[in-house]
Amino acid sequence: MILIVYYSWQGHTEKVAAALAERVGGRLERIEPVSEVGMFRKAMMAMLGMRAAIRPVQTNLADVDFLVVATPVWSQKIPPYVVEYLSGVTNAAGKPFSVLVEMGGSGAEKAAAIVRKSLEAKGMRFVSSASTLESEVDAGRLGPAIEEFARTIAQAAAPAA
Ligand SMILES: Cc1cc2nc3c(=O)[nH]c(=O)nc-3n(C[C@H](O)[C@H](O)[C@H](O)COP(=O)(O)O)c2cc1C
Repeated sequence: MILIVYYSWQGHTEKVAAALAERVGGRLERIEPVSEVGMFRKAMMAMLGMRAAIRPVQTNLADVDFLVVATPVWSQKIPPYVVEYLSGVTNAAGKPFSVLVEMGGSGAEKAAAIVRKSLEAKGMRFVSSASTLESEVDAGRLGPAIEEFARTIAQAAAPAA
């Protein structure tokens, strides 16, 4: 089972995650904050690498074969709700994961590295990462990057021949 977990404030990451789910057949789970904060606090909390409470969401990967985390870039880092999700992941050791990052223009590599470090600390195995741009998503163009990303997941998730 491929689990695609995403956080999306303004809908871009959600669109990309849904497009990926169509391609790889994954199950989508949305990370929902318990409470909303203003734009300034969003940026500050992300910048400081803080965590913030989220609603119940699947963190137990016991029945998951492959995890994809899709997140927007906030302050060259990731939203506090995604930090919280990552810290709650259990039964993850040895399982593969990929990272999908959505951004306005810069910081995808740093954001992907944060997710990667956090999941590798749980014993998970990094497979691939990709990034998309807000302007592409708004224009309805996801580009070849998402196709290639989907291929890396399908290949890694396929049972060994
Ligand atoms: C608080 C905040 C900080 C952001 N910081 C960055 C940034 O450092 N780099 C960047 O490229 N985009 C940044 N963005 C833009 C988002 O990554 C971009 O709008 C993305 O499409 C949002 O995804 P969503 O619609 O799923 O919420 C930021 C957005 C917010 C709300």
